[in-house]
Amino acid sequence: MSIITIDGPAGAGKSTVSKKLARRLGFTYLDTGAMYRAAAWFARSRGIDCRDPKTVSSMCHGLDLHFEGKHIYVNGKDVSHLIRTQEMDALSSAISRIPELREWLTRIQRKIGEHGNLVAEGRDMGTVVFPDADFKFFLVASAEERARRRKIQLDSSGEKVLYENILLQIKARDQADASRSVAPLRPAPDAEIIDTTGLDVDSVIEIMLARIEGKKVVD
Ligand code: DC
Repeated sequence: MSIITIDGPAGAGKSTVSKKLARRLGFTYLDTGAMYRAAAWFARSRGIDCRDPKTVSSMCHGLDLHFEGKHIYVNGKDVSHLIRTQEMDALSSAISRIPELREWLTRIQRKIGEHGNLVAEGRDMGTVVFPDADFKFFLVASAEERARRRKIQLDSSGEKVLYENILLQIKARDQADASRSVAPLRPAPDAEIIDTTGLDVDSVIEIMLARIEGKKVVD
């Protein structure tokens, strides 16, 4: 029954690495960014302002958010693809500043964690949601490298955005995520920091596995 947390800024390679690590270990993968995105998508679809704590927190009461395999559902609707846009990048960052929403999502995330053997990816997995996790990693990469990776992602999903704009947005989002008062983006004191600039996915996984296998994951 082990929990592995992988935190870090947007574009540091968390998603690809977390999914692959989970597969290698036979663990469940939890994408908590998708939960914030899904909440933002729902707010947007109801005309709710993602910056308004009052309406956002009352929105949570009528919200059913769950995963089925790789897909995320909001009140029965599969929003997996709808949440991967530039607009949702910005709205999810805004809504993630609301403490009531964070508390509500934290409870759901811990419930999922009760089953154990989880790779949990996000911003506050090692600091807030799973402070007692067995292994904690914090991935970083230069803003330029992250913008390059994000551009490739957006291009492949058909969204045409200038590299310079992506870079600016990444820097703004880093600043917003790191400076918010609730669960700001920072590594847990006991997290291993891995700089993924210039590293491919497999090299990052090898670093993690060496650490995990060195300490032995106990089922
Ligand atoms: O990882 P991502 O880009 O899909 O996350 C979307 C937004 O949600 C991002 O701006 C930060 C926020 N987030 C958060 O505050 N806490 C998490 N555990 C995961 C994501």
